[in-house]
Amino acid sequence: MRGVTPNYYHSYTFFFFFFVVLLALFLHVFSINTLSSTETLTISSNRTIVSPGNIFELGFFKTTTSSRNGDHWYLGIWYKSISERTYVWVANRDNPLSKSIGTLKISYANLVLLDHSGTLVWSTNLTRTVKSPVVAELLDNGNFVLRDSKGNYQNRFLWQSFDYPVDTLLPEMKIGRDLKTGHETFLSSWRSPYDPSSGDFSFKLGTQGLPEFYLFKKEFLLYRSGPWNGVGFSGIPTMQNWSYFDVVNNFIENRGEVAYSFKVTDHSMHYVRFTLTTERLLQISRWDTTSSEWNLFGVLPTEKCDLYQICGRDSYCDTKTSPTCNCIKGFVPKNVTAWALGDTFEGCVRKSRLNCHRDGFFLLMKRMKLPGTSTAIVDKTIGLNECKERCSKDCNCTGFANKDIQNGGSGCVIWTGGAHGYEELRRRRSRSICQNRPL
Ligand SMILES: *[C@@H]1O[C@H](CO)[C@@H](O)[C@H](O)[C@H]1NC(C)=O
Ligand SMILES: *[C@@H]1O[C@H](CO)[C@@H](O)[C@H](O)[C@H]1NC(C)=O
Ligand SMILES: *[C@@H]1O[C@H](CO)[C@@H](O)[C@H](O)[C@H]1NC(C)=O
Ligand SMILES: *[C@@H]1O[C@H](CO)[C@@H](O)[C@H](O)[C@H]1NC(C)=O
Ligand SMILES: *[C@@H]1O[C@H](CO)[C@@H](O)[C@H](O)[C@H]1NC(C)=O
Repeated sequence: MRGVTPNYYHSYTFFFFFFVVLLALFLHVFSINTLSSTETLTISSNRTIVSPGNIFELGFFKTTTSSRNGDHWYLGIWYKSISERTYVWVANRDNPLSKSIGTLKISYANLVLLDHSGTLVWSTNLTRTVKSPVVAELLDNGNFVLRDSKGNYQNRFLWQSFDYPVDTLLPEMKIGRDLKTGHETFLSSWRSPYDPSSGDFSFKLGTQGLPEFYLFKKEFLLYRSGPWNGVGFSGIPTMQNWSYFDVVNNFIENRGEVAYSFKVTDHSMHYVRFTLTTERLLQISRWDTTSSEWNLFGVLPTEKCDLYQICGRDSYCDTKTSPTCNCIKGFVPKNVTAWALGDTFEGCVRKSRLNCHRDGFFLLMKRMKLPGTSTAIVDKTIGLNECKERCSKDCNCTGFANKDIQNGGSGCVIWTGGAHGYEELRRRRSRSICQNRPL
């Protein structure tokens, strides 16, 4: 009988040990992509949160600045497996931690980032009260989310980083506006390649008139993409070619929201991104695993004609002509001397006054980026013939076009003389029809 007790004892130890290992593994697997309300993430611990498929990693990072003011630490997200550190999101971009001490934790159902003195540096700012505990989780699409830890609210997030983009648009992220809350998501450049604080450039989906992309330097418009025409943005002819890189464009316009997003159809889906650079370019790139570098396949603005107002009103830009600015047929440069010197911003004027009731003719202009539509009249219910009829009857109408080019065209856009806002210098005094067609 004496041998029995030790045997029993040993098996009990073994069982206990096994259980601990299992528990550790279990906790490890579960804690690696989440932060629960009892856990913290600190700079000193070097711990990071990794998405389940090892795609993205969230943690603290320090940029290699000239360090005049000491270290600047940020909480951010980067690609886990890309050797060239590429940040896709920064929480406290305008409020860095300076003392190499920082703690991320969940406090009263909010994610909070505290500095060395316990002062709040960044927070998710949620005011609604949540009864059950919340958990933060980094998803494989790069979205850092806060959700109810109970229940299966996998897609109902209390907060998500995708609603607060920095300079990068990832697949499934949106640029646009929530029409119910008015919340706008847009890209905003870093201040410098080593400084994630808000820079001067922003890339937004303008929703005055027909939605289109705007690239701003502070409040000045540098570039507009032309409105969405059902297939792409009318001023981004290369957009359809993005499909060579498995990019599928997705434009959403309904009562709840207006937004652009994209998907990638192949296995590399996570490694395509839109980035607004510190040199005012929107770059679309894909990580090339063979060469280990970001392979650029789209840049906006692309060419001189893309620059906003480069040619002035009642003219059009064509890179194949010299000079690139051309007055619309029936118009002459407003200031011939300036025009000849390449100063084309003042645009063109009508050669002879338009007699609205006699001049029933329209000039067809193909493959044009549509003029801005912030003050245009849009009627989705009528086609091109009715659109023309309506324009003919309105002496203020200077041009019309289809809204959507799919299936032979549908919808009607009418420009009238009194345009203002972003389009002030681009309004067409001519009666022109802009054929909104893909190249
Ligand atoms: C964290 O990482 C830094 C640099 O890699 C290292 O110097 C430091 O010892 C690490 N700290 C811990 C607690 O592992
Ligand atoms: C939270 O609110 C503060 C103060 O209103 C604001 O400065 C900060 O930008 C907000 N943070 C986020 C993540 O929206
Ligand atoms: C799309 O790509 C094809 C093949 O590379 C090229 O020939 C064509 O010019 C491109 N189209 C545009 C609009 O860039
Ligand atoms: C036309 O442009 C020239 C050169 O920029 C300028 O000197 C002149 O004053 C302009 N004329 C008018 C009427 O604005
Ligand atoms: C045309 O524009 C003028 C001046 O903006 C305005 O008074 C007039 O009502 C407009 N006519 C129509 C038919 O919209």
